[in-house]
Amino acid sequence: LEKNEQLQGLKHKRFLITAGGTRAYIDPVRYISNRSSGKMGYAFAQVARASGAEVTLISTTNQLPVPVGVHLISVETVTEMQQAVQQNFADADILIMAAAVSDYEPVQFVDHKIKKNSKTKQFTLELKETPDILKSLTAQKKKQIVVGFAAETDDLLQNAEAKLASKGADFIIANDVSRGDIGFNVSENAVTILQRQHANITIPKMSKQMIAKKVLEILAKRFS
Ligand code: CTP
Ligand code: CA
Repeated sequence: LEKNEQLQGLKHKRFLITAGGTRAYIDPVRYISNRSSGKMGYAFAQVARASGAEVTLISTTNQLPVPVGVHLISVETVTEMQQAVQQNFADADILIMAAAVSDYEPVQFVDHKIKKNSKTKQFTLELKETPDILKSLTAQKKKQIVVGFAAETDDLLQNAEAKLASKGADFIIANDVSRGDIGFNVSENAVTILQRQHANITIPKMSKQMIAKKVLEILAKRFS
């Protein structure tokens, strides 16, 4: 990787990468999350670091090895992730939002374990919308290149186009998460990269490592 000329432009660039699914806590022992493993974000961190970039990885998982030389910030909730991203964004050249961020979280966090109640056979949990980290950052974007994902089970490209238009990101990586063999929680992926004023680029099924490399090659062109 070190000798990959197409990644040369990334040397000494500062990356901020989020990875994994956030947790929305209900009480001290329970949370709502999603199937994201963090593997795609870690693959980006590894390839960027191997290309000589400075990498800060904001991660919800402790299940994956942290690439050598990568600065790890461990988080669990949307609030923690947003704070960590916010604190590091001004100094970053590139933000990659690979995390699967909770869209909703409980209106109220109950500070003790909620007990079973034999009288109520149903339980209603009230949820409220979380802040959109990606959107809040693109609103304060200066020189940074911002990469977002679109995780979809239906109408992949149509939904990804809409996110490219609405999120203010420079790149949206359309990711089909309806299949078992690519996307969430597996080692391979297949994506389509959307950019404004550029044709879409489709990367067929391959390891997340190779996907990260191909995406970063495209990204590196923005610096040359
Ligand atoms: N994202 C974020 N903050 C949120 C929700 C999403 O920063 N509260 C980011 C994700 O990290 C991803 C991008 O926004 O890079 C798109 O996430 P996705 O879940 O695909 O889209 P949403 O805008 O949340 O819409 P929906 O889940 O309804 O498709
Ligand atoms: Ca979402």
